[in-house]
Amino acid sequence: MNESTFAPGGGQPGLQAVGSVAVRTFAAQQGSGDEGTHHGPAGRNDQQESDRFIGFETDLQEGQLYDPDAEYEPDPEYAATLAPDAARQRRERVGPTGRPLPYFPIPGPVTDHGPAKIIAMCNQKGGVGKTTSTINLGAALAEYGRRVLLVDFDPQGALSVGLGVNPMELDITVYNLLMERGLAADEVLLKTAVPGMDLLPSNIDLSAAEVQLVSEVARESTLQRALKPLMQDYDYIVIDCQPSLGLLTVNALTAAHTVIVPLECEFFALRGVALLTETIEKVRERLNPELQLDGILATMYDSRTVHSREVLARVVEAFDDHVFHTVIGRTVRFPETTVAGEPITTYASNSVGAAAYRQLAREVLARCHAE
Ligand SMILES: Nc1ncnc2c1ncn2[C@@H]1O[C@H](COP(=O)(O)OP(=O)(O)O)[C@@H](O)[C@H]1O
Ligand SMILES: [Mg+2]
Repeated sequence: MNESTFAPGGGQPGLQAVGSVAVRTFAAQQGSGDEGTHHGPAGRNDQQESDRFIGFETDLQEGQLYDPDAEYEPDPEYAATLAPDAARQRRERVGPTGRPLPYFPIPGPVTDHGPAKIIAMCNQKGGVGKTTSTINLGAALAEYGRRVLLVDFDPQGALSVGLGVNPMELDITVYNLLMERGLAADEVLLKTAVPGMDLLPSNIDLSAAEVQLVSEVARESTLQRALKPLMQDYDYIVIDCQPSLGLLTVNALTAAHTVIVPLECEFFALRGVALLTETIEKVRERLNPELQLDGILATMYDSRTVHSREVLARVVEAFDDHVFHTVIGRTVRFPETTVAGEPITTYASNSVGAAAYRQLAREVLARCHAE
């Protein structure tokens, strides 16, 4: 994938379609046509309109969601909890977290945008789903008509790669935005193939910022200052943090209104979380009194294993209402989307994984309105 996928500084519409070329290439490599990820319009019912609004094009029966192209079928009971509309949901449902699952309404369109709510996707552990959640929560919010900016704040540039950008080919990244006074954010911004979703990309240059910022005045609020001019243009800014609690992560927490902590549903999930919540507490006390732990997001959940269910129960025991009702299931679809360079909401639009991130977006929006 070359850098022409993205059009810096506002974007040229003609280039945006390149994202789907990547999908075709990938599908061809897999020896299957890209039509495999889509379902025909047969058997639509009266949910058709709302389904189309949220990107569903399916011939699924009531309460069913499945992904025929995934390696194995998701647990239908788990999938049923992700149905996007009240009509398909059983009343008085219990969600995967063991608590009654509220109904998260499909959000209406918005006409005005901004000021942005900034979310830091944070866990000092690697491989827990931070980058995956940033891309897919962002894409789902954008599907619901919100303007979204994703900030790649990891020198590894995985978020940029996951959106089809080759970070090595970038001359200007979020690093320059942090370090060069007078550089306009527009010069760094890339449009993604998802309408309404932009990216501040990063690459290995950012690792130098961690060292260089140490001698700066107000070094912890550098990102906050850099994002300020963009606040009015977006409804949500999601920052994908690096797997450490260093100065970059402290910058993200200082800029953020809320934190989402993805936790992989495996045995050591809770190890290190105390240190993370301590760090969040310190940032709140000293730098950012507004900061809230929005939620713990359970990821890579496999409802069929006792182990996954036990870990999730422990997480709920420890964090109670801070745990999102939405739980992200484990599916091979997510690693595939990284190769394809696009979100699951477009790569496999009617998959269970896409439904899960759409529900997360509705839950985030519902929490936001409740405040
Ligand atoms: N729900 C999931 N099911 C299966 N694999 C997943 C899921 N979420 C993420 N992954 C995969 O796990 C790996 C790590 O995820 P990633 O989002 O990069 O974590 P982090 O950013 O916390 O390091 C990636 O290969 C990703 O594709
Ligand atoms: Mg990551």
